[in-house]
Amino acid sequence: MTDLKAEIMRLKKERNAIILAHNYQLDEVQEVADYVGDSFYLSKVAAEIDCEVIVFSGVRFMAETAKILSPEKIVLLPEIDAGCPLADMITDEDVRNIKNQHPGVPVVCYINSSTEVKAESDVCCTSSNAVKVISSLPGRKVIFVPDGHLGDYVAKQLPDKELILWAGCCVTHAKVKPEDVLKAKDKYPGAKVLIHPECSPSVVEQADFVGSTSEIIRYAEKSDAKVFIIGTEVGVLCNLRASQPDKQFFLLHPGLVCPNMKKTRLQSVYEALAKNQYEIQVDVDLAAGARRSLTRMLELAQ
Ligand code: 13P
Repeated sequence: MTDLKAEIMRLKKERNAIILAHNYQLDEVQEVADYVGDSFYLSKVAAEIDCEVIVFSGVRFMAETAKILSPEKIVLLPEIDAGCPLADMITDEDVRNIKNQHPGVPVVCYINSSTEVKAESDVCCTSSNAVKVISSLPGRKVIFVPDGHLGDYVAKQLPDKELILWAGCCVTHAKVKPEDVLKAKDKYPGAKVLIHPECSPSVVEQADFVGSTSEIIRYAEKSDAKVFIIGTEVGVLCNLRASQPDKQFFLLHPGLVCPNMKKTRLQSVYEALAKNQYEIQVDVDLAAGARRSLTRMLELAQ
C-alpha cells in the first residue's frame, strides 16, 4: 500500500498531474487526492487548475465535466465503467421532447447527466447551487432534469417557481424510507439528521439540515451537536469520522453505498497514471454546448 502511494506521488510529479476525488470515494483514494469535495467544488477546481493531467476519481459524468471545462488537459477516469444510473435515466431526445411540450421554458439539468443532456440544457446545477441557479432564471416555469427528488426539494424552497420535473432518482439515496429516519431518531435521541436532497421528499422533510455532501460536512464541523445521523453515501461518513473524532456519526441506512463510486481503488489510481487510462474524449460540438450550460452555472453560483 505504501509503495503504491509512493508510486502515485512520483507519477503525479512526473506527469504534472492532479488527483480529484469526490467525497464518496474510498478513504484510500481520498488520501492520495489533491482536492476532495462535492460536485460543484470539483468542477470549479477542474476549470481553474494549472496542470497537464487530471485523474478524476469519481464517476463518468464528473470526468466528462472536467474534460469539457478543461479541454486542453488529459482527463483520466481510473475505472471506465464507473457510471451514474441517475445520469442514464434521461437522454437528449427526452429533453428535446419536453422542450417541445413547453416551448420557451428554460431547462436546468443536474450535473449528474450526460454531455448530450447538458448540451440540450440552458444551464447546469449541482445539489449545492440548484436553488440559487433556478431562482436566478426569469419567468415562473422551469424544466428540471433528471433528478425528481432534488427537483421536489428545490420546488419547495421556491414557491414562486413552477418546476416541470423528470422522474429520475439516485438509486442509492432512494433506498432510504421515511421509517428509517424515525428508527434512527429513536435509536439516537437528540441526534441531528443531515440529509442529501437526492433522498426522497418524505425523507428530506424530516431532516434538520439538507445539503450537498460538502455542505453536510461543513454543517457537522460547525455544529455544537455531538451526534449526527448521516443521510448520504457512506464515503462522507468516513471523512467526518476522521476529521471530527470528538463527534459521533451514524449512517441513516446500511444501503447508502454507491457501487460505482466504490469501483475506484488505490490500484486504479496508480494504473490510471502509469498507463494513461482511461482517457476521456468528448465530441467537440457537444462539448461546446455542454460548456455553455456549465459555464453559466459557474457564473451564477460563484
Ligand atoms: P454532491 O457532491 O454535489 O453533493 O452530489 C453528490 C452526487 O450526486 C454524486 O453523484
